[in-house]
Amino acid sequence: MGAGRAGARGRARASGVADEPPGVAVVTGGARGIGRGIAERLVRSGHRVVVTDVDGAAARRTAEEIGARAGLAHDVRDPQAHHDVAAEAARLGRLRVWVNNAGVGHDGDLAALSDAQVRELVEVNVLGVLWGTRAAFEAFGSRGGDVVLVASLAGLGPVPGLSVYAATKAAVVSLAMSVSAETPPGVRVHALCPDGVDTAMVQAMNPDGTARALVHSGGRLRTVDEVADAAVALVGSRRVVRSVPLWRGGLVRTTAVAPGPAARLLPLFVGRGRRVAARSE
Ligand SMILES: NC(=O)c1ccc[n+]([C@@H]2O[C@H](COP(=O)([O-])OP(=O)(O)OC[C@H]3O[C@@H](n4cnc5c(N)ncnc54)[C@H](O)[C@@H]3O)[C@@H](O)[C@H]2O)c1
Repeated sequence: MGAGRAGARGRARASGVADEPPGVAVVTGGARGIGRGIAERLVRSGHRVVVTDVDGAAARRTAEEIGARAGLAHDVRDPQAHHDVAAEAARLGRLRVWVNNAGVGHDGDLAALSDAQVRELVEVNVLGVLWGTRAAFEAFGSRGGDVVLVASLAGLGPVPGLSVYAATKAAVVSLAMSVSAETPPGVRVHALCPDGVDTAMVQAMNPDGTARALVHSGGRLRTVDEVADAAVALVGSRRVVRSVPLWRGGLVRTTAVAPGPAARLLPLFVGRGRRVAARSE
């Protein structure tokens, strides 16, 4: 019996939630990249994980590969789809963690993006997060839980060449800050702001574009593992906004205080990013 209690305490610590055993966790956009990394870690810490993605076959494949309980087709632009996912997750037990990770990263200046790209950025990165967060709150009920919003360092300051994406991520950071102050103590909302990460999203960017250079200007791309560890560490914590790495968050916030003078430093960052990107190819 003593050993059983010690085991439960161990699992509670592993879940990241003080005095709470692991529960059910949903990760949107979890078929690949950062979402997959987060889902893998949640499985390892004892959560019963539901991987969802707009690509349902890929979600199911990933779920099987990482030992998640289910992989579901889920387009985060559809508000009802979030409630359907929450209902499926509830069949596995009590929902404790909801990770709004799904996102798109079309790069290019505002004037250069197509209407469809602008719409998709806003609908997936902003509306998708709003619908998911509302569905998670409803599913948590009075028992509470953690919502992790995968935002971006781009949400903390100016990012020319990625302006619409940056605006959507700024909205997500803003949402986390306001909603954290609205929710009862048992409901925690966190915004994770990673620097450039080595995933398909960055690989799809225009190789000669400003965005790709700025994403590399931190010296190296971060790994999925680093970002996923930081995401899971937020579960159960009171931290509202977390940058990865921390120092880049401070730097980008400084540029937001004085975007005019910061724009004059832009060529320096772009030049550095181009050199880093060239080295890593
Ligand atoms: N890669 C980076 O440099 C970086 C940096 C900071 C933040 N982020 C954020 O991390 C998150 C994950 O990005 P990633 O780099 O792993 O990208 P990725 O393109 O590898 O993965 C994104 C996943 O989201 C899914 N998705 C896209 N639209 C969807 C929709 N409508 N409904 C459900 N799923 C959808 C995709 O199918 C894919 O599996 C995104 O929110 C992204 O903005 C990425």
